[in-house]
Amino acid sequence: MNFQLSEEHLQLREMVRDFALNEVAPTAQERDEQARFDREIWDKLAELGLTGIPWPEEYGGAGFDYLAYVIAVEELSRVCASTGVTLSAHTSLAGWPVYKFGTEEQKQKYLRPMAEGKKIGAYCLTEPGSGSDAGAMKTTAVLDGDEYVLNGSKIFITNGGIADIYIVFALTNPEAKTRGVSAFIVESSFPGFQVGKKEDKMGIRSSPTAEIIFDNCRVPKENLLGAEGEGFKIAMQTLDGGRNGIAAQAVGIAQGALDAAVEYAKEREQFGKPIAANQGISFKLADMATAVEASRLLTYQAAWLESEGLPYGKASAMAKLMAGDTAMKVTTEAVQVFGGYGYTKEYPVERYMRDAKITQIYEGTQEIQRLVISRMLTK
Ligand code: CAA
Repeated sequence: MNFQLSEEHLQLREMVRDFALNEVAPTAQERDEQARFDREIWDKLAELGLTGIPWPEEYGGAGFDYLAYVIAVEELSRVCASTGVTLSAHTSLAGWPVYKFGTEEQKQKYLRPMAEGKKIGAYCLTEPGSGSDAGAMKTTAVLDGDEYVLNGSKIFITNGGIADIYIVFALTNPEAKTRGVSAFIVESSFPGFQVGKKEDKMGIRSSPTAEIIFDNCRVPKENLLGAEGEGFKIAMQTLDGGRNGIAAQAVGIAQGALDAAVEYAKEREQFGKPIAANQGISFKLADMATAVEASRLLTYQAAWLESEGLPYGKASAMAKLMAGDTAMKVTTEAVQVFGGYGYTKEYPVERYMRDAKITQIYEGTQEIQRLVISRMLTK
């Protein structure tokens, strides 16, 4: 067992860390306030080869592994969780299913431009009446000649409105329930594709979240991903890996908050000494650092398992559960270390705390992670 990152992973971490500090951090607060996505940051990520980290070079990717990918999401999230999730949803939720289940033609047509960052990807599963119970979806897809006609609406779609390529789950056989779900690759330019309400959110405000409406949306037959009826399994397997991207985002948020809290505790003086000299603060920092490290280890382990071709669904759910709770706890404690200043927008810890909350909710709530883990333990 070797806990040392390889030279390549260390170099990648340095490169993303520099980029995050110099190009992402300076506008993070302003983008949060304005709920503004910055396409220029995305284009720079693409130039650095970060928009297709785990995909082979023949599909426009960097040919790296899932560990490299989670390191990149973590480093970006350390300064801006919105940028972290834009990359995570694009890679894990849109690129991955095309890489895993797409035909060679689909990979060249859709994975390549996503990997090169020319197109942004998104994933459409959740509906107004179907969140944790993903199998209760209502969106339908009916074959009409050479096209499927999609009707329904999907909500809370990360990258909704800025993405060009959407992986959409719809019922081709409603009576068969989860076995009647199929997956489709839908371009935003297809007739009947509409972007609905844009959410005004508590956190990750510069990552757009929108409703996507399919109003007799016509999708060419060749854009069916996998076989008819395989969609639910594709959705679940996609989330197995996606959850580790969220774990990485959570680790990054927590590390960012911890760094800020340590610096502040060393500088801030009360009663004639730095507040870090009080065990009430220093023990808090120790607990925060320990939780961050444990979360990172679980996250890296899940990424390593996936890279090695070993089962990773349980590990990924555990990483997300642990890291999401850690992010919430550590960011809340960071605000506490900052006291009144932490509650203002003068310091970034209030943003970290707002951003952390979503990691306990999306890509499966913490309760769903427990369901997934416990089912695997007892099956
Ligand atoms: N891999 C492969 N197959 C799987 C699977 C997995 N991980 N999980 C389930 N399946 C298969 C089952 O084996 C079963 O197959 P059969 O029909 O052949 O028996 C089928 O799928 C149905 O499985 P279940 O009976 O377990 O289904 P269920 O209705 O009980 O639901 C669930 C399972 C785990 C609760 C699932 O509904 C779930 O994951 N819910 C949470 C959804 C979620 O995470 N949503 C987040 C959306 S993305 C997002 O957050 C937005 C964003 O853009 C970031």
